[in-house]
Amino acid sequence: MHFSHYFTASALAAVVAAGPLGIPHSLHESRSGIPQGWAKAEVLDRRAILPMKIALAQSNVEKGAEWLSEVSVPTSSKYGKHWSAKEIAEAFAPSDKTVDAVKLWLTSAGISESRIKQSQGLNWLEFDATVDEAEELLKAKYHVYEHETGQPHVACEEYSIPAHLKEHVDLVYPTVHFDAKIKPREEDAAELEKRDVKSGGRRRGPGQPGGPGWSPPGGGWRMPWHHKPTTDLSNCDVHITPDCLRALYKFPVNSKANVNSKNSFGIVEYTPQAYVPGDLDLFFKNFSQKAVGARPILDSIDGGVVQQTNMSFNFNGESDLDLEYAMTLVYPQQVTLYQVGDLVEGASFNNFLDAIDASYCTYQGGDDPTQDAVYPDPYGGYQGPENCGGFAATKVISTSYGYNEADLTPFYENRQCHEYMKLGMMGVSVVYSSGDYGVAGNGGQCIASPFGAVNTTYNNGTSGRFNPAFPSSCPWVTSVGATEVQNGTNIQKALASGTQPETACETVIYSGGGFSNVFPLPDYQKSAVEGFFKNHLPPYGADRYNNSQTTRGFPDLSANGANYVVAVDGNFSLVYGTSASAPTTGSILTLINQARLDAGKSTIGFINPVIYAHPEILNDITVGGNQGCGTPGFESTTGWDPVTGLGTPNYPKMRDLWVNKLA
Ligand SMILES: *[C@@H]1O[C@H](CO)[C@@H](O)[C@H](O)[C@H]1NC(C)=O
Ligand SMILES: *[C@@H]1O[C@H](CO)[C@@H](O)[C@H](O)[C@H]1NC(C)=O
Ligand SMILES: *[C@@H]1O[C@H](CO)[C@@H](O)[C@H](O)[C@H]1NC(C)=O
Ligand SMILES: *[C@@H]1O[C@H](CO)[C@@H](O)[C@H](O)[C@H]1NC(C)=O
Ligand SMILES: *[C@@H]1O[C@H](CO)[C@@H](O)[C@H](O)[C@H]1NC(C)=O
Ligand SMILES: *[C@@H]1O[C@H](CO)[C@@H](O)[C@H](O)[C@H]1NC(C)=O
Ligand SMILES: *[C@@H]1O[C@H](CO)[C@@H](O)[C@H](O)[C@H]1NC(C)=O
Repeated sequence: MHFSHYFTASALAAVVAAGPLGIPHSLHESRSGIPQGWAKAEVLDRRAILPMKIALAQSNVEKGAEWLSEVSVPTSSKYGKHWSAKEIAEAFAPSDKTVDAVKLWLTSAGISESRIKQSQGLNWLEFDATVDEAEELLKAKYHVYEHETGQPHVACEEYSIPAHLKEHVDLVYPTVHFDAKIKPREEDAAELEKRDVKSGGRRRGPGQPGGPGWSPPGGGWRMPWHHKPTTDLSNCDVHITPDCLRALYKFPVNSKANVNSKNSFGIVEYTPQAYVPGDLDLFFKNFSQKAVGARPILDSIDGGVVQQTNMSFNFNGESDLDLEYAMTLVYPQQVTLYQVGDLVEGASFNNFLDAIDASYCTYQGGDDPTQDAVYPDPYGGYQGPENCGGFAATKVISTSYGYNEADLTPFYENRQCHEYMKLGMMGVSVVYSSGDYGVAGNGGQCIASPFGAVNTTYNNGTSGRFNPAFPSSCPWVTSVGATEVQNGTNIQKALASGTQPETACETVIYSGGGFSNVFPLPDYQKSAVEGFFKNHLPPYGADRYNNSQTTRGFPDLSANGANYVVAVDGNFSLVYGTSASAPTTGSILTLINQARLDAGKSTIGFINPVIYAHPEILNDITVGGNQGCGTPGFESTTGWDPVTGLGTPNYPKMRDLWVNKLA
């Protein structure tokens, strides 16, 4: 996301005349619009050196979906027989033909072989180029853009590569890709207040936005704590505690005596988000006595630090929420905190993926210098090498951050999505929150431009096209939406009488959900999505969403995301969002893995083929919606729906299936 704008005298001497004329080029990627928040600033200094990276097309990517199916479809004879990291790297390495063809293009354009480096995983070529060289090579025109925060960035509006290389190159950096710094699933309180008022503010009680006694607490999906604490389950409709979640999804306090080192639960946070040790203990004292003093295992990626300088809900809310619940629900299994990015530059999902998979890194660990942070940090932060394959992936990884799918290019998203596919093949469950704005995107924005327009523009969310989330729209992750307990419902009574106590979340946040504009409908989801359209056809046309019935729908499942009691900055608050739903789901999957590992079985890995084949292991949620873009959104209904997915976890049934019935 950040351009390293450095000058080296020696590199200037390397300017060579343009390559052979007459090679027909074809347009590879383009973006004529400038994303919101950016403006064209100045002409690029001709002396700038661009760190170019070419993402080579990987071999066998088209076979990946089938390989992933083989190990994750429950009826497959290879179910659970996951691949090793080495097997993955070998299977997907670009062919020699690809490497040679791209190198030939570069060398004949005057980029000498000695300047070109190939990555460890063999799937990237990297070289420094002058602006003239880069522009000639790609038939592109570079400019400097500036973000409203002052962040500079170098990009072009489109670029071409020789037509015959199309099949060999995924993408080239830096080019059309723009900064889209990862946003946690939380929002400015003033914005929240506005939105709640706008939406009619369902059930605004005391202490809720727009309700009496509300004052913006400084940001975040937070409410002041006004309720009497309680250890029984009669108040789960107004505040969620770990015991409420255990009651709702019927899973026990973990009684495992020994920690299984293979079963740590991974939580990903992006600096400057940071947990506060005192908050963990404050929470544990009330809800998980044995865990007092426990801390996550810290895997610091690219200078990741748990900063304690900036303290507010916006800096601590996400991390405190994720860790307090994850550590309580899986205890004594450990939680691994992947803290990604330094304080100056931050980082992106690709930095994280590099750190857990060496085959994804570029040479010495660089990757997209425009989307992803570059380390050593050219802005003075972390000066070590970028982390490349330095950490093992935990078997369940939960992330509560996300982009709008429309923020990024399909090439970029496909490449990252393939990476999630590989993690699935290795037996890792990758869980992402689905977003907090219903059918709208981050910040409640919708897409103003028509489908297929060159420019993607967003509006204020009162109209326009639905704005799906990425990575949730990638078919190889498990996307988690949000539910809530209806106010006035006693969950014990409801559960005892066989009544579903939950609906789609419509308090403060709306469960992110919808259909991708980029990714096709995966096989495992076909009949569920067909059933949804057949029985509950949404009343919207192609002007609102991709209604072709041929694209990936999300979320896959859901879990409670309202009224979580969380200790933040020394006090208890109520927190809302799919940010809460994701770690709760990840915790339950970690408990299932524990049971399977104890039974001598593999981890559950990519769960989607199993849950769509066995929807009975989830509690179907059939009430509520996910409004946005000036519409009521989609409807939560019988069977899968793009609001609550297949429903919420039913732990005893999940456990029985995964431990007793599946290989
Ligand atoms: C795209 O956006 C750019 C800059 O915002 C503008 O100059 C251009 O006219 C737009 N193109 C279209 C097709 O709307
Ligand atoms: C829940 O319902 C009770 C009783 O109707 C009401 O007093 C309270 O404000 C409601 N709470 C919320 C969070 O809406
Ligand atoms: C935590 O426990 C203390 C001591 O029992 C109690 O005073 C406090 O209200 C509890 N807080 C919550 C949020 O349950
Ligand atoms: C974080 O704290 C530092 C040091 O006090 C300060 O300079 C910086 O502005 C703070 N950042 C934000 C976003 O508040
Ligand atoms: C949102 O944009 C529409 C159309 O431009 C405008 O009419 C409306 O007043 C705006 N609403 C808010 C809340 O800003
Ligand atoms: C919907 O997605 C399909 C498959 O990617 C694509 O072919 C089609 O053009 C899209 N249509 C609309 C209206 O978004
Ligand atoms: C915590 O709550 C107490 C009592 O409501 C209040 O006095 C204090 O300022 C709060 N602390 C923080 C850090 O908000």
